[in-house]
Amino acid sequence: MREVAVLGIGQTPIEEHWEKSLRVLAGEAALAALQDAGISRVDGVFVGNMMAGSANHQQQLGAYIADWAGLRYANALHVETACSSGSAAFRAGVMAVASGVLDVVLVVGVEKMSDSPGDEITAELATAADADWESAYGVSFVALNALIMRRYMHEYGWQHEHFALFSINSHQNALHNPYARFHSPLSLQEYLKAPMVTPPINLMDASPMGDGAAAAVLVPVEHLHRFPPKPKVRVVASTAATDTIAVASRRDPLWLSAAERSARQAYAQAGVGPNDIDVFELHDAFTIMSALSLEACGFAERGQGPRLALEGEIQIGGRIPICTRGGLKARGHPVGATGMYQIVEVVQQLRGEAGETQVEGAKIGMTQNIGGSGSNIITHIFRVD
Ligand code: COA
Repeated sequence: MREVAVLGIGQTPIEEHWEKSLRVLAGEAALAALQDAGISRVDGVFVGNMMAGSANHQQQLGAYIADWAGLRYANALHVETACSSGSAAFRAGVMAVASGVLDVVLVVGVEKMSDSPGDEITAELATAADADWESAYGVSFVALNALIMRRYMHEYGWQHEHFALFSINSHQNALHNPYARFHSPLSLQEYLKAPMVTPPINLMDASPMGDGAAAAVLVPVEHLHRFPPKPKVRVVASTAATDTIAVASRRDPLWLSAAERSARQAYAQAGVGPNDIDVFELHDAFTIMSALSLEACGFAERGQGPRLALEGEIQIGGRIPICTRGGLKARGHPVGATGMYQIVEVVQQLRGEAGETQVEGAKIGMTQNIGGSGSNIITHIFRVD
């Protein structure tokens, strides 16, 4: 297998992009990544997207985006694993380059949620749950996460206010990210008084809807000398694991087994452990997911995820900085694009391009992207020389 490097990155701001179509958004991120890489041709295009078929009435995203980005004739395809579609497309691109099948690959994650009314998008998001045993009964993703959070608080004795610092940290970091959905700081009072969505999850525990696209260019490390010089950011681990689709089918709904498995495999591939990770872009779709991801990946004991936030360890300068560009909560969560935003942000950190939220001396970064309520989880580790 060949070693793979990230040569270029690009992203659009996350907003309600009424004036831009799906292809214009994807094309903006794609062209920014190609420009950053200093190239204009690729062999393959991998597109991560969850719901364009229903939300935008567009399928065939491989050809659709390759054509628009001026990459006609490239091998192009669409990858879907719900909210982890962006990372799944990236992993497919890594496998293609590592195996020697393709040399230069563009990966784009894109989602345009604003075109559908809120209740329709909520129903479309719920297609990532079990149609027979969950969504058929009207359970939304917020409701599933609320059930998990309530049980977690009951089992481990946490109060709602103990989750506040996850959201406060994300909003604080997003202040310095020009691509973020929100640029407003969040106080503890604002968190506590936010409108309730599904108890115990309130508006400030949840990630917002949004439109956006993020992209990266992958090449074999052995070909890097052919391209304009850049910091050498290598993909040192790419892993994925699945779990039951229905939360109720799990022996322990408070443990993300797929996160644990994919993280364990990623550490083994990269030859590192949790203590070696300098920055971690995790999947904070809801505050409870931050706690569960930190625990499953070995940063906190079972049931103790909120303690890391309370002790300041998740902030820039802490033991394990997370959501350094705003995370899903404040950078935004255009679902099928989110994994690519996480990857672009870790590459920014490793290149030293993260501005006011730069983690000093960051050499090893990790991303973890969660599809469904923990049913398809993809982890990557990156290293800069
Ligand atoms: N955090 C902070 N502010 C938010 C927000 C959030 N998560 N979501 C919406 N807002 C703000 C909007 O910007 C808007 O502000 P404005 O009035 O100043 O313009 C206001 O709240 C109302 O926005 P709206 O889109 O009408 O909110 P909503 O009540 O319809 O939806 C949620 C809010 C939280 C229910 C919705 O965003 C949601 O379902 N999020 C979860 C999405 C999800 O499940 N993703 C997949 C997870 S794996």
